Amino acid sequence: MPHITVKPFDSSCIVKGNYGDAEETKVLFKAEDNFSDDELIGINHGDEDFLLHLKKNEATWLLKYDKVTRPLKVNLLKQSIADVSRGLNLDVLQSNITIHPTKIVPSSVYEKGIEDFVDIEYPFDSLSIEVGFGSGKHLLYQAQKNPERLYIGIEIHTPSAEQVLKQIDILDLKNIWVVNYDARLLLEMIPSNICHQVFVHFPVPWDKKPHRRVISPSFLKESMRVLEVGGRLELRTDSYKYFWYSMETFLGDTVAKIGVEVRKNEALEITSKYEARWLKQEKDIYDVYVTSSEKSELRVLAFDFSFKDIVYKKEILDKISYKPELFEGFFMHFERLFKIGDEAVLIKLAFGSFDRPEHKYIYLDKTEAYYFNSSPVKTLTNYKTHLKIMEYLNV
Ligand SMILES: C[S@@+](CC[C@H](N)C(=O)[O-])C[C@H]1O[C@@H](n2cnc3c(N)ncnc32)[C@H](O)[C@@H]1O
Repeated sequence: MPHITVKPFDSSCIVKGNYGDAEETKVLFKAEDNFSDDELIGINHGDEDFLLHLKKNEATWLLKYDKVTRPLKVNLLKQSIADVSRGLNLDVLQSNITIHPTKIVPSSVYEKGIEDFVDIEYPFDSLSIEVGFGSGKHLLYQAQKNPERLYIGIEIHTPSAEQVLKQIDILDLKNIWVVNYDARLLLEMIPSNICHQVFVHFPVPWDKKPHRRVISPSFLKESMRVLEVGGRLELRTDSYKYFWYSMETFLGDTVAKIGVEVRKNEALEITSKYEARWLKQEKDIYDVYVTSSEKSELRVLAFDFSFKDIVYKKEILDKISYKPELFEGFFMHFERLFKIGDEAVLIKLAFGSFDRPEHKYIYLDKTEAYYFNSSPVKTLTNYKTHLKIMEYLNV
């Protein structure tokens, strides 16, 4: 990921304004960490907002991306880091940035953001979803084979999402949408009863961090909701342990009526890079097909994540506790606070359901408050937590 190492400098020179030859990089604010010397720089570039992180070590400082707000296009990050660095005349000691201005590709129409799904139109009669497509071999194969069906590929790893967007362009495919997000959250934005298949091929087993697993009771519930009657959730795994964990989840009491079918060492028409590795090692592969048997209730996405009349007041600084607060079915954890001058702050927090937490920044000044760069996914759990956050910030 792009970053530069620079000699320490007087960071008070980072001020609002346009940076770079084409003045495309706009600094929105500079926020100082309450617990360290680190600073965040709010950036706007085109229609994207994100943060750069200035990490101050003793002898050298690092200017890099911020994980929570990172944009999909790496070139945009590179450009902004280079623009800020040039604009401030920084003494660069080390850099992994090579800028190719012509390479900044316009947004692909096949790249969708989580917010797009609030009122998105589905231009195909049939829809399948692939969770964690990795190299995209299976997703691209399916989309080529079934041009009349829309494929939504959801992948949390940004470089993989970028690679597949390039392949879509090369292969001139019109029926794939790529979403660079946590599939466990995105699924909640999909309407009920419209999906033909949900593929989960070789999910990371997360033996030591089970809360990060894709398959969970809530994922099962959401999958059965989005699937049409007769539609299937298709799990393929090389992990015996994960296979049994999934079977227990599927056969537990989360969903009353489903069909479950198991296969061992079934060859598919396409072998992903990842699968090829296991086949070489002669590992057993397990498929579990979970069929939706009942029509689900329609999904309403009418949650309002605005902060209404909440604004920055200095009492907020005294009130914030950095210990996680647990409620029935959800939590709220203020992780860090960044001061923007004397009259605004940026709060970093994690919240929502335990197995699908959201990570966000809230921007507050004297006139407004909002989630910086994107709102939480419109789920009931996130909405309940949002109400708690509002209650908390209302001092
Ligand atoms: C082991 S790889 C398998 C990739 C591909 N399905 C295959 O068969 O080659 C697991 C993939 O799932 C992605 N992933 C893990 N958790 C995810 C989540 N919550 N949402 C979306 N993608 C996820 C990872 O980034 C990774 O690309």
